Amino acid sequence: MKPTEILMNEHRIIEQVLNSLEKITQEAKSNGRLNRGHAEEAIEFFRKFADQCHHGKEEDRLFPLAHERGIPQEGGPIGQMLLEHTVGRGAIRKMDVAVPAASEGDAAALAAYLQGAREYIDLLRAHIQKEDRILFPMADQVLTENDQENLLDAFKEAEQSHEDPETHAKCLGIANRLAEYYGVPKAIA
Ligand SMILES: [Fe+2]
Ligand SMILES: [Fe+2]
Repeated sequence: MKPTEILMNEHRIIEQVLNSLEKITQEAKSNGRLNRGHAEEAIEFFRKFADQCHHGKEEDRLFPLAHERGIPQEGGPIGQMLLEHTVGRGAIRKMDVAVPAASEGDAAALAAYLQGAREYIDLLRAHIQKEDRILFPMADQVLTENDQENLLDAFKEAEQSHEDPETHAKCLGIANRLAEYYGVPKAIA
């Protein structure tokens, strides 16, 4: 499997949790309060799996190598992807600070949570499309076979560098529990 295929498989899991997040927001709108446990689990998944692990592989491993091989960074696709990762972190923070009061039914906090969630869902769905359709094919064109092998090793190393070795499994557990609860199709059977 190519490194970009690993990242695309991770995209499918991230999309699965984005679909669950959308259900969390729909449920919160009709109940007038947020399900705190589910909201916190989704944030944990997006922070650990999507941002630290997945975006870490892109930012620390794939993007620098693709840049070295000639893909523009500043003002180009890599710079745009990095910017979107940063915007996404802001949207997660917006959701996170609103969770306690939104789960008590505070209308302003719920509105703030819903706004953060909407921003994050729209941003990440479009971001994933851009990587799958534009940046990753570009990277595969310029990376040598040796680069691809080195990247696979670097990805393995990145996965093992979590403080808690159970992080990956724990995040997949969250993804599947939320999918089962909200009736969202699973990316992996
Ligand atoms: Fe990305
Ligand atoms: Fe990505």
